[in-house]
Parts: sequence; structure tokens; C-alpha cells
Amino acid sequence: MSLVDREELKRKRDQYIVPSVKQLYADPPLIVRGKGQFLYDETGREYLDMFAGIVTVSVGHCHPKITQRTIEQLQELQHTSTVFLTQPMVDLAEKLAEITPGTLTKSFITNSGTEANEAAIRLARQATRRNEIIALEHSYHGESHLTSTLTANFNWRPDAMPAAGVVYAANAYCYRCPFAATPEHCHLECAADVERVIQTRTSGAPAAMIVEPIQGVGGAITPPEGYFGAVKKILDRYGVLLIADEVQTGFGRTGKHMFGISNWGVDPDIMTCAKGLGNGIPIGAMVTTAAIADQVKRQQINTFGGNPVSAATALAVIETIQEEKLMENALTVGEYLMEGLTELQKSYPIMGDVRGKGLMVGVELAGAGKEPLPLETAKIVELAKDNGVILGKGGLWGSVLRIKPPLSITAENVDTCLKVLAKTIAAVSKAAR
Ligand SMILES: Cc1ncc(COP(=O)(O)O)c(C=O)c1O
Repeated sequence: MSLVDREELKRKRDQYIVPSVKQLYADPPLIVRGKGQFLYDETGREYLDMFAGIVTVSVGHCHPKITQRTIEQLQELQHTSTVFLTQPMVDLAEKLAEITPGTLTKSFITNSGTEANEAAIRLARQATRRNEIIALEHSYHGESHLTSTLTANFNWRPDAMPAAGVVYAANAYCYRCPFAATPEHCHLECAADVERVIQTRTSGAPAAMIVEPIQGVGGAITPPEGYFGAVKKILDRYGVLLIADEVQTGFGRTGKHMFGISNWGVDPDIMTCAKGLGNGIPIGAMVTTAAIADQVKRQQINTFGGNPVSAATALAVIETIQEEKLMENALTVGEYLMEGLTELQKSYPIMGDVRGKGLMVGVELAGAGKEPLPLETAKIVELAKDNGVILGKGGLWGSVLRIKPPLSITAENVDTCLKVLAKTIAAVSKAAR
């Protein structure tokens, strides 16, 4: 492939790609190569990737073992669809049964997180013969009609006519507690809100509640200890299934556990995952218990879901996470990152909140009156890139820096990131004064 000039490519992109597909940067580099935790532009300039695509490159760009397995599978068998018997999909499902918590054993393999969530809601509705769904405020669950309705964030809600049957509970947003509590005086009113929502906004018998253990696009919003345990008790009392959307928190990202929800000691009834499962190859999965799956006998199909290439790649990704002890690395390097950020926070008051677990970290920027600072956040993301570090951005008001690198990063990479953050936050803080 011959490379076109960066400016020419930008012009062509504007001409041929729909304008709703936006760029993270005002001045985007042209990325041509990735290796481990680094990206390279067409001039050979290196960038430390602290965002991993969008929280997707879990084991590093173009990991040699994984690339090799993808190529081998491509040369052997590329496609049949779910109606034919092939081994990689079954091997992957067996592996997912082994590593997911509780009695989750049966999988439906998809191409994306959106599709996995669609499949989860469909299963929950069919298995319970109920209809209503509870989601959390500030959530993100995908781009389809249904999953964008599950998404309680106006930036990602294009439909003035949302899908029917979805209601929302307050999220566990400690920095801006919806119940004006403080961590010292918290009675988990956010968990109790789920019962209030069931009683006042549903028939009293919803099918399921869908949650991100740590809200990703919402800005690394991390519920307090005890939150999901209290929510699960309420759901069990009303016969409501819990769906854990692990699209961002899955596969070791939060450090202590393979899946985010396990940090709260809770086993979901249905789990969805994608992103980090494929390390960049399109794949998603919905995993549930045999008891729930066996309620539904109707036929279900997915042309590309569980295709041999994606399935073989995903299996290699999980093996690599285990063999290279990347979950353990996410824990230790994540703690080191968190310590560094907390230290930095002492010097820069605009770092209103530092939160997260493992390598799923957010820094919420806020002014003296706790007002969100989206312009400053965008400026820091742009300046960090100019200084060779890729960061993400999120939150309801676009005021959260998202730091979610490949799980293979080192303490030295963290030092580089902290140094660039200090420099850029200092520049932006000075300009804001
Ligand atoms: C928590 C969560 N769920 C679902 C999705 C949708 O996944 P996909 O973009 O693969 O459809 C995303 C994507 O960012 C996500 O963060």
C-alpha cells in the first residue's frame, strides 16, 4: 500500500467518510504502525499508547504470538458461519466457561460489544418472559438502537425515539454523588435507588439490569465497596437478571480479577465482553448460565460471529494474558500509576478526582467550584499527543482523562506518562488562571 500525504488523507477522509465519525484530535497524526505499547506515525515518530485503541489492545499492538495464530488460521479456514461445526469457536467458548465467574458456561460469540449486549438483552427477555430493562445513568452500551437507548449519556444518544422498555437508576458516582452523600457518610443510596426504580418506573417485574462494573465512556466511574452486592440482593428479590457489561473491564484490566464485577464479589447472570478479547480483531461474546441459556430454544445465527479467525485469535489473547501474567502486571503497574497521579494531584488542583482499578483509570478535571473542564481536558489530550503520549477522553461532560493502556506497560512507561501529564496539566492550569 502506498501512503498518501497526511494532509491529502485528511482531505479524502472528509470527502469519503461520514462527518459523524469524529477524530479525537484537532491535529491527528497519521498512524501507520504499532508495536507493543507504542504507535508510530508516517514520519517514524513514536507515541506511548496509554489508551490502547479504545481500551482494546489488551496485550500490546501486533503481539507476535497472536499475529502468528491469526495468520495460521487465515491460511487454514477463514469462514463458515455459526451453522457449521468448527473447532476454534468451541475452544474459545470452553475457555470462556473456565475463566468467567460463577456458573457462566454457555456462550454466544458475536463481532462487537454492541452485538453482545443486544444478544444479552434478547436472552434476558426470552428467558424471563419479561420485558423492561434497567440501565445506569452515565452508561455506554453501544451504537445500535437498543444499546444506544441503554446508554444514558446524551453525547451518544442520537435517537429522539428510543427503544421501549428501558428505565434508568442513579449511578454510583462518588465524586458527584447523586444523593449528595460523601464517602465518609455513604449509605449506598445509589444501590437503594434500584429498588425505587423497580417500584416506581416498571411493572415491578423487569427482565434485567445491565451495568458496567466501572463505567468506561462515562469516565472510569468506580462504585464503592458493597455497591454491586447490595444491588444484586435487590435484583434477586424481584427475580431480575444482572447483566455485567465487561466490554472495557474484562480480561484482567482491573488487575485483581479476570472480570471487573468480581472486584465486588458478585456473580452476574449474564456477562458480555468484546474489545480486549480480540486485541484488535473484531469479536464479542455473551456468556450465561446453562439454566438461563436452556430456556431459549429458538434458532439464533450470526454470519461472522465465532468465525475461526477471530475465535482462534481471541483464544491466543486469553492464553497470552495468562502466560505473560498481564493481570498481575495491571495490578502492580496500575497501583504505581495511581500513586503517581495522586501525588501529581497535590500540585494541580484541577485534577479533581483520580479513580479506577488496575489499568482502568480516570482523572476528572474540575474547576474551583467543581465545574467540569471539557476544554482544558481536550487541550491536555492534544498537548499530550504533541509530547508523544496518547490519552483518552470521556465523561458526561468530556472532562475526564481516560488512561487505559495495554496491560503490558511498564513502570518506566508510567513515568513517561506522568512526566508528560505534569507538563501538560501545568501548561493548561497556567492558561486557565
Ligand atoms: C462498556 C461498553 N459496552 C459496549 C460497547 C460497544 O462495543 P462495540 O463498540 O464493540 O460495539 C462499548 C464500546 O465502547 C463499551 O465501552
